Order: sequence, then structure tokens, then C-alpha cells
Amino acid sequence: MKILLASSEIHPYSKSGGLADMVGALGKTLANLGHEVGIVTPLYIGIRERFPEIQPLRFDIRIELGTHWIEGKVWYLQGPSGERLYFIENSHYFNRSDYYTERGSDYPDNDARFIFFSKAVVFLAKNLPWQADIVHCHDWQTGLVPLFIRNSAKQGDWQNSPSTVLTIHNLAYQGVFPATSYALTNLPQDHFRFEEVEFYGQMNCLKAGIVFADLLTTVSPSYADEITTQEFGCALDPVIRIRKNDLHGILNGVDYTEWNTTQNTALHSPYNSENLEGKVANKQFLQQELGLPIRPEIPLLGNVGRLAEQKGIVICLAALETILVSDIQFVILGNGQPEFETAFLNLASRFPTKVAVRIGYNQGLAHRIEAGADFFLMPSRFEPCGLNQMYSLRYGTIPIVRATGGLNDTIIDSSEDEHRANGIKFHDYSAQKMTEAIQKALIIYSDFPRLSSYRKNGMVADFSWNHTASEYVRAYQKAKESARTAE
Ligand code: ADP
Ligand code: GLC
Repeated sequence: MKILLASSEIHPYSKSGGLADMVGALGKTLANLGHEVGIVTPLYIGIRERFPEIQPLRFDIRIELGTHWIEGKVWYLQGPSGERLYFIENSHYFNRSDYYTERGSDYPDNDARFIFFSKAVVFLAKNLPWQADIVHCHDWQTGLVPLFIRNSAKQGDWQNSPSTVLTIHNLAYQGVFPATSYALTNLPQDHFRFEEVEFYGQMNCLKAGIVFADLLTTVSPSYADEITTQEFGCALDPVIRIRKNDLHGILNGVDYTEWNTTQNTALHSPYNSENLEGKVANKQFLQQELGLPIRPEIPLLGNVGRLAEQKGIVICLAALETILVSDIQFVILGNGQPEFETAFLNLASRFPTKVAVRIGYNQGLAHRIEAGADFFLMPSRFEPCGLNQMYSLRYGTIPIVRATGGLNDTIIDSSEDEHRANGIKFHDYSAQKMTEAIQKALIIYSDFPRLSSYRKNGMVADFSWNHTASEYVRAYQKAKESARTAE
């Protein structure tokens, strides 16, 4: 099959979270399975310097954006598995210090930036020498693509237009802009109605994708159910319910060529499920790197992630206040909402021998925390899939999670299956329940045979991408069938 993936982030070229990991690994795996794969993404600042082999393509693009025409270039790179990467250059839109935000606020022209990007995706799908069967969009930044494609086909200027799939990685981010932004789409005004792009008087890019994609997926079976409910639906649940039969929950995979403990240059010592000595060495090294007392015997709790409300930071901070009375250490690497960054830095200054905080983005340290910690905290209020808990399992680091979305689908608690347990789950979103879950973890830590059983169960769990990518191929086939039936 010929598949064009479109995403605002792709690992290893750009990344702020799991979206980049997911699309990068999906593209690579589909190419390894023999499919023809293209990936379209913005050319952010620094990519050309880090990947000097990237080449400009000979054609330029000109995109109509409201009353203006915007120029762009396309850069090309062949990925390691043969996937073709197309980077859309427009220095005004993409040469910025961040992808989406500045000092905690969205860039005011995110509407123009990502409508431009979505139109560039469609331009490529139409003009590349190879014609994709499927255009697979990811999140709100490419949510308008299915509508642009459909509109173009309807106007009769695109025969055999590709079928479209939209993956929802996070319903909380929808790309909602003032009604006046709709003019930037140059679409007929009759799509700006409540059954389509209009959303409480504004325009909603993700909603457009939900309405117009031939098939929808999200990143875990539990989240697929959750987003049909009012509680998790972020006001789009009525639209999602209409398309419930076209929505598939496909659990993300893990790229074990990157996330492994045996061949990983970011780690101090290799280790595996048969021999965990290296894990103790990594723990000591991490304690040293972060300036904590080197005490391999005490439990070390870790966390890496975006500091956003979604991630359960509020209950995490409250639970730590109680749990830090015990002889433990806690380390966190993250960035995000300024008030959460400050709160963790304050915690570190109050508990300098127990808490280490690193604000920022650091891939190597993310691996070292996964490897050096004994437990990994993910108390998310909601979690579409979550990759860190799956990375933790492979690293022998026991996840402590709230039972929601992909966390619920990947972690087995002893109350579900004592012999297969690989983590600790709590249900209510409360500091009290999280504290109890950590206390349970500390009991397990002091019971070596039980600790070893949890670790082993986690390390042998297999979430490899081949299985996930095959599910996507099935979804692409379904999308083609449903597009044909709709014709
Ligand atoms: P989300 O996509 O919601 O942020 P995931 O668990 O799916 O959550 O994926 C997070 C990914 O981003 C992981 O690969 C994690 O290691 C990485 N990550 C998040 N924050 C940081 C950071 N500050 N430094 C390095 N890596 C980070
Ligand atoms: C989103 C979600 C996260 C998921 C990731 C990759 O960022 O918050 O749960 O793992 O996308 O699909």
C-alpha cells in the first residue's frame, strides 16, 4: 500500500511528546513491512543542521491562505527504512523557539501556521510522482486535511483521491480558532456549520477531521471507549458518538531499537531481565548525575513528561508531600506549565537530599531515569495511550499508574492477576489513592521475590510495533472500503 503520514512532529527530527515517537515508529515499521511510505512534517529550526544530508526538492509550493499566497519549499530525506520524509519549509511559520507555544501561551498565528501546513500536505499528496492510497493524519494540526481532500475531489479536480484516516492522540487539543480564521481555509462557507467545522461559534480543526476522515483511530482501546462519553469527550463526544462504528482503538507500540537496556548509548550500564546488576549501577549513576546521595538501597521514584494538567501533577505534588516523609528519593524531568515547574523546583529546594528536579527537555536523561528508577509515576487524569509506562516496563521500572486510557490497557495490577502483575494501579483521581498506591509499591520494594516477579513480568512484555502496524494496515483497508461505499 502507498501511505502518506502527516504529522506536526516526527522523532528523531522533532518531538515534544509521544506523538513524535508514534508517527516516527509507525512510518518506519510500515516501510519495513514493504509498504511505500511518505511522511510530511514541518521543517523546524535546527533540523537541517542536525541532518545535513537533507536535500531541497526541485518544486516550490504556493499556498492560498485567505487573501494571500504563501510560498514554501519542500526538503527531502530518505529515512533509514526507506520511508520518504518531506519537510515543509516556511521560515516565518516554523523557525521558532518552540513548536506550538511561547512562554506558556499558544502562538497567536497557530491557525495560519497549521492551515498552511495542512494545505501543503494536500498539495504534496496531489503532486508527488507517487500517489498515496491513504493519507493518515494525526491530531488537530492536520485535522482539516480530509476536508480539503474531499472538497478538491468534489470539485472534480482530483480523480482517485486518497482515502483518509485520522488518529486522535489527544482529544484535549482541538485547534479551536475564531470564526474569522475559517477564511484562511478558502473552503465554501457551507462547511462552517455545527455538523461540520463550526464549534460554539468558532472553528474546530479536530472536529473537521472527525467528521470528514473516512476512518478514525485513537491510541488505545480504553481511550476509544472513553472519548464517546461526556466525561472524557471534551465537548466533542456527540460528534464522536455519531462516528462510533468508524472509530478503532489501536494501542501504540514501542520502538525497542530505541527503548532498550542492552544496547543504549544513553545508559551507563547495560542490563536485561536475567541480570539486573546493571540496573543498580544505573541507579547509582543517576543519583550521582542529579546530585542526590548515592544510596542504592532506598526506593527511587521517577517521572519524565510534559508538565500539564492531564498528567496528574496536582495529585502527584500532594501525594509526594506525604510520601517524602519516608526514606525515599524522587526525580523528575519535565517542562510545561510554569506553575508546575515552580512547584517541583520548590519541592527540590525543601527536600534537597530526597528530590531532584530537572526542568527542560533531555532525551538521554529520559532514558537514564527510566533505567535508574525503581518505580515510575503516571497518575494521569486521562491518558490516551502513554508510552512512558511501556518504556518503564522494558526497563524493569515498575509503573504506578491511574487506571485510565492506555495506562489501564497496558498495566496489570495484582488485584487483576497476582502472577502476571507488572505494575500498580489506582482508580480514583485523588492524592489519597495515589499515596496508597505508592505505599503498596514500598511494601513490594521490601519483598525481593515479589519485586523481582513484577520486574520480570514487565521486562518480558512485548508491545512491539509489527503487531500495531498490521492493525493500521487493516484500518487503511477499511478506510478504502468505506470511502468506496460513500462514493
Ligand atoms: P505525551 O505524548 O502525552 O507527552 P507519552 O507518554 O505518550 O506522553 O510520551 C512522552 C514521550 O515524550 C516519551 O518519549 C518521553 O520520554 C518524552 N518526553 C516527555 N517530556 C520529556 C522531557 N522533558 N525530556 C525528554 N523526553 C521527554
Ligand atoms: C498523546 C497522548 C499520549 C500518547 C501519545 C502518542 O500525546 O497524550 O497518551 O501516548 O499522544 O500517541
